[in-house]
Amino acid sequence: MRRAVVLSTGAYLPERIMTNEEMESIVETKHDWIVERTGIHQRHIAADGQVTSDLGVHAGMEAIARAGVPADSIDLVILATTTPDDTMPSTATKIQHRLGITKGAAFDVNAACSGFVYAMTVANSFIVSGAAKRVLVIGAETYSRILDWSDRGTCILFGDGAAAVLLDAQEGKGGNDDRGVLHSAIHSDGQYTQLLATNGGVSSTMTSGKMFMVGKEIFRHAVTKMPAAVEEGLNALQLSLSAIDWVVPHQANKRILHGVGQKLQVSDDKVVVTVTKHANTSAASIPLALHAASGDGRIQKGHLIVCPALGAGLTWGCTILRW
Ligand code: UT7
Repeated sequence: MRRAVVLSTGAYLPERIMTNEEMESIVETKHDWIVERTGIHQRHIAADGQVTSDLGVHAGMEAIARAGVPADSIDLVILATTTPDDTMPSTATKIQHRLGITKGAAFDVNAACSGFVYAMTVANSFIVSGAAKRVLVIGAETYSRILDWSDRGTCILFGDGAAAVLLDAQEGKGGNDDRGVLHSAIHSDGQYTQLLATNGGVSSTMTSGKMFMVGKEIFRHAVTKMPAAVEEGLNALQLSLSAIDWVVPHQANKRILHGVGQKLQVSDDKVVVTVTKHANTSAASIPLALHAASGDGRIQKGHLIVCPALGAGLTWGCTILRW
């Protein structure tokens, strides 16, 4: 059976770091409040003129270099983003070109904070069906551009960043010991569109709009739907919770991560947390966390990793893979 195996990862965070102390000069807030309620200490902010494709190219380049494969051996680029450079063309095509990839296809996926899980699900389907052999999945965001910087309930939560995962079609035996994606499933429920959204867009206001969120409601959905998505995947694989080596969830709020870990009966030291330093980078948050935890040796070859996410839509899902 064909499996989508991770060859490498890459990541990029803009140079500029905005601390909570700096946030105190923008909105009425306090470092201690932000840390206590979210775990966030700082976030990275893209420079003026630095766009989502710039971040994505850096991350993609690193993943390709670390894999040691020719860029042109990649036959699909999927970019998960809610903050594209322009309305068209897709930001993925710009990244494809700048990475020197000339064949195959490239497109964007918009599922907000679930974007990486959506993109992995699509990539896995392409690989398992034989439609693609080597897929670069990138999550890249510049949420600083769509934040309402006068809304302390949202602007303190987000940051900019990008990360990439290079997937390769490899033959497995078809069992849970195979390396690669073992399960990847996505969901959405559009009755909740107004819990987390922008107040405008291309066709409605002819602007990008600014973000608003009903934080408490989103929190409630996150701590129930993310663990449920993990359990759905493990059940499909006939694996128990004890099979999990690492939980690498979407990084929205440290309290949410703790709640997800508790429901999955996983101790805090098995939950990868990067929200403290990156804040919420939406579609980039899971691959940034995978990059960090594989880079420092926590995640090792053969480990079973579950990656649940929830975002605007609502959208949610989970990718389960063996590293
Ligand atoms: O990626 C998916 C999308 N995002 C999420 O998953 C985020 C989900 N939600 C959350 O993380 C939390 O709901 C927040 C961090 C956004 C808010 O935490 P909370 O514990 O739900 O606080 P709250 O909204 O109930 O606000 C509590 C108080 C309020 O004051 P009053 O009404 O009690 O007087 C807020 O006005 O804290 C106030 N507050 C703040 N105070 C200082 C809200 N934001 C701030 C702030 N600084 N930045």
